[in-house]
Amino acid sequence: MLYQLSYTPKADCDLRRPRGEIKRRFAGFVWFCKKPDATHPVMDIDRPSAPEIFAHAPWAHVAKPALAATKAVPTMLGPQEQQFYYWLTSVWTRGDGAVVDLGCCAGGSTARLAAGAADSGLNTRIVAYDRFTAAEPLKETLLYANGIETFAGNDILPLAQQLLSPWSDRIDLIPGEIEDNAWDGGPIELLVIDSAKTADSLDAQSALFYPHLIAGQSVILHQDFLHWSQPWLAAQMELMSDYFTPLACVPRSTVAFLCTTTPDADALAIGATADLSDADLQALIAAARTRMAPFGRDDRFQAMADGLAANPGERVAWKFRRPDRA
Ligand SMILES: C[S@@+](CC[C@H](N)C(=O)[O-])C[C@H]1O[C@@H](n2cnc3c(N)ncnc32)[C@H](O)[C@@H]1O
Repeated sequence: MLYQLSYTPKADCDLRRPRGEIKRRFAGFVWFCKKPDATHPVMDIDRPSAPEIFAHAPWAHVAKPALAATKAVPTMLGPQEQQFYYWLTSVWTRGDGAVVDLGCCAGGSTARLAAGAADSGLNTRIVAYDRFTAAEPLKETLLYANGIETFAGNDILPLAQQLLSPWSDRIDLIPGEIEDNAWDGGPIELLVIDSAKTADSLDAQSALFYPHLIAGQSVILHQDFLHWSQPWLAAQMELMSDYFTPLACVPRSTVAFLCTTTPDADALAIGATADLSDADLQALIAAARTRMAPFGRDDRFQAMADGLAANPGERVAWKFRRPDRA
């Protein structure tokens, strides 16, 4: 038996429940049926097959209507990243933990996550952190350019609250320095990181949140992983390859990792990046480039290596000068 909803996009996967019922999900729309469709992958809900399902890039089928409510919220995410974030909370997460968004700015990433969570039918909580300040250049390029009325001052917390009001019942916004917080919100099922703009902040934020990831299920997204000016992100994931395995690269710069083992204090020490030398970082970039060759982003790792070579000793992203201008 098949209950068909109002439109018929291609399904992204079948989720098999223990009692054999199939829940077919795509872009926030769900079909219930008895038999799996042989043309697309089946994911057993109790035995996630993350690498397999992610290799099919099912988020590419997230259709525009699913993201319509998020359009009013300016974001730095590219179109595919927006589909991916929505898919993760509408399809991948099971409601076993919180969604944490580190560096949500005016709420762009948070809105896509919240829209997916709302369509999942789960009670997923989203906790979003930021300084919630924006200088004039950012206001011009991200906010005013996307239809936000001009306003005085640097405080964007009221704006983020207003833009995220459609999902306010499931979102907590935490203003200030992320590193000044403690996490007591239980397991984290999805951790989105766009705030590790220095090696020190990556280490501090990892120590706060990684120990709460669920082994075999939690996914972390590094939104700027492939950006040429933050090589400590690739370095850390190489150092912690016993704890995280890459799942997908999604343009513009996001790379997703599955947490295979929950990091403890020893793991965090292994993954610390602040004291790595440039030579260490270059070796780890090269290792990441090799391990992630199947994702076809070789040019981005080359840019990362070139960026570091042109900015010796630098560990603050905004201080990086492009190789041709360094
Ligand atoms: C590139 S923006 C985020 C864009 C957003 N994720 C989106 O999808 O539109 C990075 C954000 O991280 C925040 N950030 C960076 N480091 C931070 C820290 N240590 N504590 C709090 N916020 C931080 C900045 O305030 C900035 O808003």
